[in-house]
Amino acid sequence: MAIQQLAMLFAVSSAIQKAALASFTSNNLTHNPFPAQAACQELQALYPAVTHYPNSTGYVQDNEDFWSQASALGPACIFTPARAEDLGHAVQILKSFSSPFAMRGGGHMPIGDFNNIDSTGVLLSSSGFKQLELEGDGHSVHVGPSNHWQDVYKYLEPEGKVVVGGRLGVVGIPGFVIGGGISFFSAQYGWASNNVKSYTVVLADGSVAKVTPENCYADLFWALRGGGNSFGLITDLELKAYDVPVVSVGIANHGNITDPSVYYGNVVDFALYGQTADEKASVIPVINTGNSARQSGIISYTTYRFWSGNISAELGNSTPASLSYLQRPEMRILKDNFAPKTMHGWSEETAPTFSKTKGLRQRFFTPLTLRVKDKARTVVALEVIHRVYFDAIAFALSELDVWFTGVSPFPMSARSLATSARKINTVEGMTIPRGDPMGLKPENLIVVEFSVSYSNNGSYEPIVTDFLTNAARQIRVELSQKGLDGLIAPWLYLNDADKSQNVFGGYPEDKVRALQQIRHKYDPDRVFTDLMPGGWKVAHA
Ligand SMILES: Cc1cc2nc3c(=O)[nH]c(=O)nc-3n(C[C@H](O)[C@H](O)[C@H](O)COP(=O)(O)OP(=O)(O)OC[C@H]3O[C@@H](n4cnc5c(N)ncnc54)[C@H](O)[C@@H]3O)c2cc1C
Ligand SMILES: *[C@@H]1O[C@H](CO)[C@@H](O)[C@H](O)[C@H]1NC(C)=O
Ligand SMILES: *[C@@H]1O[C@H](CO)[C@@H](O)[C@H](O)[C@H]1NC(C)=O
Ligand SMILES: *[C@@H]1O[C@H](CO)[C@@H](O)[C@H](O)[C@H]1NC(C)=O
Ligand SMILES: *[C@@H]1O[C@H](CO)[C@@H](O)[C@H](O)[C@H]1NC(C)=O
Ligand SMILES: *[C@@H]1O[C@H](CO)[C@@H](O)[C@H](O)[C@H]1NC(C)=O
Repeated sequence: MAIQQLAMLFAVSSAIQKAALASFTSNNLTHNPFPAQAACQELQALYPAVTHYPNSTGYVQDNEDFWSQASALGPACIFTPARAEDLGHAVQILKSFSSPFAMRGGGHMPIGDFNNIDSTGVLLSSSGFKQLELEGDGHSVHVGPSNHWQDVYKYLEPEGKVVVGGRLGVVGIPGFVIGGGISFFSAQYGWASNNVKSYTVVLADGSVAKVTPENCYADLFWALRGGGNSFGLITDLELKAYDVPVVSVGIANHGNITDPSVYYGNVVDFALYGQTADEKASVIPVINTGNSARQSGIISYTTYRFWSGNISAELGNSTPASLSYLQRPEMRILKDNFAPKTMHGWSEETAPTFSKTKGLRQRFFTPLTLRVKDKARTVVALEVIHRVYFDAIAFALSELDVWFTGVSPFPMSARSLATSARKINTVEGMTIPRGDPMGLKPENLIVVEFSVSYSNNGSYEPIVTDFLTNAARQIRVELSQKGLDGLIAPWLYLNDADKSQNVFGGYPEDKVRALQQIRHKYDPDRVFTDLMPGGWKVAHA
């Protein structure tokens, strides 16, 4: 059949669908009992190739390929356009039917209804935006939000370049960046969101804007440096590219260290001295346990160590002094694969481990951010966190079939926050707040993150919530009893937070007001706040 005939048939059937739809919608949109179904029919009629109904291949992938299975919520349909204009049109259609919707990127935020929606809504997916293209000057790369960091590292490997992106290649990109974005390269270059040159954004009225720190959207650009998903839908990120052909990175396995204060002491030494002296160094400490036969009752310690360069070529194969704190003899390294490799090589090496969580649920929770002022008090605080968490978990989660957990006290340097506080928006006649929306002062911090993975059973959710919130409350009570409240910074990292946490409550008030004004300017009808309910909404702060 000729393509024109197909098109004509399609036009006819779509007209019939539209007429049917109109009979129960057009006169009284607000009372349409099935707004998502109506919006799906309209999308299907206009964009059949990229509108997916339940049980089709396109649908199953985007509904189920999430980091946490709590997100597999089964929307009425899934829309996967490849053109920003089509996504903009979808926003107009959703708005006209008052249909709730969600937007997903890589799907790594482990909060069910923040990156998907149930059958009362439509899921807009980033999965059609696959572009990867280095700019001619080699200083930036256009990245479609369907990619994961490993795709970008792979694409840039032959050029000897990297972007300020995920420490693990498996992670998704758009959510990561608009939540701030902590990279191994952040100590040198600041947040991932401070290393964006421009975005292509679908605005609430369906129009498409190129958003840069220098054009009339400079305020919107500022809001996207950690302000979350209340502002627009991203279809392209232009990220700065840096010449880093080789890094040195690996995971050291310390087994079960008997005295936690030994481990935390060395982490704090790195936070105070290592990262301060050497902006190429970064570490991720992780303390694990779980209820498998192998892990049960055993707490084990691992440290990711990273240095931005080839230690063989640049340091005569010795590990940098800045990382030495994590390999002192009492740290008993049993296994270690710290070595020069590319970011893509590292991504390939770590991907299999992280695919083991497929099919499970997961939760993140950040009980607090610590200010690292002096070693003794910081170690005491970390010991309190450790004791409260690990003393309670096995009993609290005893009803769960399978579970495992990691506590990560991640050091961030004053230097990296100073880099992030630099003003990058410069537009004549436009007042843009200083720094970024998180407004952190340059000081050494430790971001504490809990993560719990468990079997895919919805009835476990309240048990895990109770455990996490009780542990966080108990930690604050004990720190207060010890006179250590002064070590607690108000800020909670958005990308590590649980739904129950008040993320914007930890942002400075003037920054929150600025975010709210910008949100109102670009989305007066609250499309990305009310019709797209998932995510931390600055309007609710
Ligand atoms: C294994 C693992 C490792 C991680 N490592 C790091 C790390 O090193 N550093 C770090 O900072 N964080 C890290 N994170 C956290 C990560 O930054 C967040 O989970 C982030 O949300 C992931 O981005 P995503 O695109 O997958 O988000 P999704 O889960 O797809 O979405 C998250 C939020 O972003 C919104 N969103 C998604 N796509 C778009 C879009 N195109 N336009 C507008 N809004 C959109 C969604 O509506 C949602 O509210 C890690 C997470 C995991 C699971
Ligand atoms: C829409 O329908 C509802 C109930 O069906 C009715 O109460 C309402 O008045 C209608 N609104 C308009 C503008 O017709
Ligand atoms: C999808 O397939 C499953 C299993 O074959 C079936 O039970 C379900 O009803 C189908 N859903 C839809 C919406 O077609
Ligand atoms: C450490 O782990 C080993 C098994 O790997 C176990 O035999 C030993 O009792 C553990 N020690 C402590 C202090 O937990
Ligand atoms: C690191 O440098 C050494 C020495 O110059 C070289 O042999 C090696 O190939 C480099 N590593 C990588 C991953 O390129
Ligand atoms: C989910 O957990 C509950 C409570 O432990 C249990 O009764 C139920 O059988 C579990 N469901 C599945 C599908 O395993």
